[in-house]
Amino acid sequence: MDIINNIKITTQNDKKLLEALDALPANYWDFKADDVREYTHGIHNYPAMMVCPISRNILRIVQEIRPVNTLLDPFMGSGTVVVEGMLANIPQVYGTDINPLALFLSKVKTTRLASANLQSESQRLLERIYQSCEKNRTQINGVDNILHDRYELDLTAKKGWGENAPVYLKKYQEQNNMEIEIPNFKNLGYWFKPRVILLLSLIKSQIQKTEDKDIRDFFFIAFSETIRFVSNRRNGEFKMFRMPAVKVKTFEPDVIREFISILNRNIEKMNAFTERCCQIDCTTKVSIFRNNATILKDIPDGCVDLVITSPPYGDSRTTVAYGEYSRLSLQWLDLDLSEKEIMGIDKSLMGGNKFKNGFKMTIPSRTLQQSLQRLQSVDLERAGDVYSFYLDLEKAISTISRKTRIDGYHFWVVGNRTVKGETLLTDRVIAEVGQRYGMDYLSTIDRNIVNKVMPMQNSPTNQSGKKSATMTNEHIVVLKKRKC
Ligand SMILES: C[S@@+](CC[C@H](N)C(=O)[O-])C[C@H]1O[C@@H](n2cnc3c(N)ncnc32)[C@H](O)[C@@H]1O
Repeated sequence: MDIINNIKITTQNDKKLLEALDALPANYWDFKADDVREYTHGIHNYPAMMVCPISRNILRIVQEIRPVNTLLDPFMGSGTVVVEGMLANIPQVYGTDINPLALFLSKVKTTRLASANLQSESQRLLERIYQSCEKNRTQINGVDNILHDRYELDLTAKKGWGENAPVYLKKYQEQNNMEIEIPNFKNLGYWFKPRVILLLSLIKSQIQKTEDKDIRDFFFIAFSETIRFVSNRRNGEFKMFRMPAVKVKTFEPDVIREFISILNRNIEKMNAFTERCCQIDCTTKVSIFRNNATILKDIPDGCVDLVITSPPYGDSRTTVAYGEYSRLSLQWLDLDLSEKEIMGIDKSLMGGNKFKNGFKMTIPSRTLQQSLQRLQSVDLERAGDVYSFYLDLEKAISTISRKTRIDGYHFWVVGNRTVKGETLLTDRVIAEVGQRYGMDYLSTIDRNIVNKVMPMQNSPTNQSGKKSATMTNEHIVVLKKRKC
């Protein structure tokens, strides 16, 4: 039986929900003209962010039909759904992810800060930064030329400067009577020029002096966003590709100005968020956990009324590399992570296991089975990657269903990507797998991607320059937890 054509409307609420969705005009879900960066949504970029009006409207529609006491986003990413849960004043909001940058960002985005404190602390921070810049001005401004001329270092090369930046900078500081703590991670010099490293280190050391932890974390998010713009990384891509050497040579970002402008923007957004939460008398309890969505060990069973989530489109290697995107930030921020942990993030995400030599199809989805059969005949290894991703997705669906209360709703926002010419119908797969794990299929809403923060091209081979088009539309799959 085709699940999509066999919708099970069992309660009055299901009927009301479907009527409400059906009554919306075409293109309602595109949100072409909406400000998707308002409040704290806009304080830091993150790959494949969900545009906030999606969750805002789902929450509004569902709340008009039934109370929502507990909301969960098991693939929280930058925390869009969690922020919207607060703006909808949901009593309990859970957000989980594996990527430590996602957790840190979501924590900052959902922690309200009193405007007056934020203003005075940021004023103090900027004064400290200016003073330290003034004190070290000559040494900082001269470092690129001196390292290049005196030590004959090629500042664009991986060997020499690229690999040993901390050693050279330490020597430089000793000779020039400077004392700024420099981070020590692999290929620091490959990704940053000497002046940029000194300035970032200076900002970091001044942020560390902020006593209030929540304000300090907020400053670190502005710092993290600055890192991306002043690194030698090619902007506009989520994978770690560096600018060509000729560009690195002449790249001289204004680190301090970049940081201040991001900080000021973020302060405005935080003030607007805090004010809005005050207006609505927000009493939401936000609980953020570093949990694998296939396990969700910290979320109680049977407690969730509503799930709104956008899982990854596929494995990190061939779709969006969340770990790679976050790497430089995590290497600079002191989040108590080893280099091994940081480098291993992408492998720990959905589809990280390899099935190089084939697999036995066990996932309860006829649609996926047909796609995998076709894919296997073209490329066994790629078929294995796809299988690995959907195997994790199956585990996640089963776990999330277990966390959901009877009659609770799920809204899965997904894109159907194409691998080796085979379009993988993730929306159907979710409906079919959900059916096996106690979730009835209710509807699929289609939307055009007009303002989502994601590349319209990806790099399926993981090689710089080789790209193919990614999807330009998404589907929101609506499921309902049935009575056992
Ligand atoms: C499409 S993004 C979510 C974006 C999010 N809706 C937002 O607005 O920022 C998918 C997220 O799933 C996370 N992820 C991947 N595999 C995971 C797993 N097994 N458990 C939990 N989170 C996972 C990634 O780290 C990433 O943050």
